[in-house]
Amino acid sequence: MPAIKVPKREAEPLKRKLKKLNLYDGKRRPRSEGDFVLLPVIDDPRVYELGHEVLPVELPLRPERQIYKNLESVLAERLTSEELKYLRRYDVIGDIAVIQIPPELEHRAEDIVWGLRKVHPFIKVVAKKGFHEGAFRIRDYSIIWGEKRLTTVHKENGVEIKVDLSKAFFNPRMKGERYRLAQLVKDGERILIPFAGVLPYALVIARYKKVKITAVELNEDAYRLGLENIELNRKRLKGEIELIQGDAFKVLPELPTFERVISPTPRGVDALALTLSKAQKWLHYYDFVHEEKIGEFGERILEECRKQGKDCRVRIKKVSDFKPHVFKVCADVEILG
Ligand SMILES: C[S@@+](CC[C@H](N)C(=O)[O-])C[C@H]1O[C@@H](n2cnc3c(N)ncnc32)[C@H](O)[C@@H]1O
Repeated sequence: MPAIKVPKREAEPLKRKLKKLNLYDGKRRPRSEGDFVLLPVIDDPRVYELGHEVLPVELPLRPERQIYKNLESVLAERLTSEELKYLRRYDVIGDIAVIQIPPELEHRAEDIVWGLRKVHPFIKVVAKKGFHEGAFRIRDYSIIWGEKRLTTVHKENGVEIKVDLSKAFFNPRMKGERYRLAQLVKDGERILIPFAGVLPYALVIARYKKVKITAVELNEDAYRLGLENIELNRKRLKGEIELIQGDAFKVLPELPTFERVISPTPRGVDALALTLSKAQKWLHYYDFVHEEKIGEFGERILEECRKQGKDCRVRIKKVSDFKPHVFKVCADVEILG
């Protein structure tokens, strides 16, 4: 859930304003961080339009609600404390809950479904997730409860995203990252997004900024869903999105350069030289890097900049945990000349 970061002295008046606008999330507790306070707000596009920094933070539920709202505390009724240690983080994508169930909890699958339905009464499907596979990065899922489908419409950052988890990659945890990029973009920019999937980045950016986006995706199913998503959101988009189906390594060399390139690179693919060659001012390049190799990764980018005759400044941000000591990172590469 989002939270607004505000200097302490402004917290009380802003809290009153948020309550008036019905945007304050009273089920959660605010949190103090140095000279700032994080105020819990509901997931509504209006919170992003108040001129304050909005962060994706899971602020704790107030104790009286926690009993009903937190999967771990619900399952404490049925699972032992030893079993609870194996409980993994789960995602709710539209009306589908997806959870990884480790072998130690396989025998508790029914209880986990019961707990998820208690915490999220609106869900219609519970799916067990496996790993991402192949170039299209599609996860292997098995439905363990509910309707036999893996299609749904997910709401995020003020857009609706139709997904089919059996056919195309989608990661709801990148919501904050998509919002971060949308904030960096300026009206009027021309943006290139290879590896575009069902278009989550393109939709969120075009929702908030008057830009022209060219997106490229190889997977035909993701491409088809991407086109549906442009239609689904047509009325709320300020920007325009053109979607090309094809292999980024063949399509990009035929395209002009763009002010900004965003590369949600599939794991194991090296598209650094290709995407940098298409960027005039900014490249946001995602990759998976061991924490001890982050410096090396930055050096590799600077070396590629030198090769291409570009003077660059690189800032690397950890975006999420991938596995122990390995992070999904985003290199924000600014091309100075
Ligand atoms: C990590 S996913 C990111 C998808 C999307 N940007 C998102 O965040 O949901 C990488 C995407 O690149 C696509 N892909 C893989 N190889 C490709 C290629 N050579 N050209 C274009 N797209 C490709 C996959 O089908 C997949 O949708």
